[in-house]
Amino acid sequence: MDDDILQYTRLRELYEDEEKPFELLLLADEKREAIQQYIDSARIFVLEKDDIIIAVFVLQEITSLSIEIKNIAVAEAYQGKGIGKYLLSEAAKIAQEMGYEDMLIGTANGSIMQLYLYQKEGFEIVGIRKNFFTDNYPKPIYENGILCKHMIVLQKKLNT
Ligand code: ACO
Repeated sequence: MDDDILQYTRLRELYEDEEKPFELLLLADEKREAIQQYIDSARIFVLEKDDIIIAVFVLQEITSLSIEIKNIAVAEAYQGKGIGKYLLSEAAKIAQEMGYEDMLIGTANGSIMQLYLYQKEGFEIVGIRKNFFTDNYPKPIYENGILCKHMIVLQKKLNT
C-alpha cells in the first residue's frame, strides 16, 4: 500500500438521492443493464478523497446469512496502490457488523489479478457459473488474452 494513499479519504454509504457513480461501476461491469438489475436493491459504498469519489463497492443480500459484492472498482489513476485490498477488508467488516456469515464475489475466468487479489484476501473458490459471460454479454470479453466464458464464484467466511 502506498504510505499515505488513504490520507484524506472517507468511506461512506452513498445517500439515497445521490447520483450513482456509473463511470466507476462500469469499470467492473461493462454492461449497464446488468448493473441496473442490482443497483436499486443494493447498498452502495464509496471512497472519497478530497470530496471526490475514487472507488466504490456494492453489496447485495443473497440470503439472510449471505451477501455478495456485486461490483468493486477503483478509479484508474488510483489502481494498484492498495485501495482494492482495503475496500475488500472494509466490506467484510461492514457485512459482519450487519450480521452476515459469509460474503460472495464473482469474477471472470480471465480476470487473473482479481482472482489473485480475492484469494489473497481470504476468499475461496466455491463454484463456477458456466458460460455466464458468453450467454449474457453480446460481445466476447477478453482479459489477459483469455476469453471470459465463466464466472468464478468465491466465498469468504466472516465469522473466523
Ligand atoms: N497486475 C497484477 N497485479 C496487480 C495489478 C496488476 N495490474 N494491480 C494490482 N495488483 C496486485 C497488487 O500488487 C496487490 O498485490 P499485493 O498485495 O501482493 O501487493 C493486489 O493486486 C491488490 O492490489 P490493489 O492495489 O489493492 O488493487 P486495486 O486498488 O487496483 O483494486 C480492483 C483492485 C478493484 C480490481 C481495481 O484494479 C479495479 O477497479 N479494476 C477495474 C474494475 C474491476 O475489474 N473490478 C472487479 C470486477 S469483479 C466485481 O466487481 C465483483
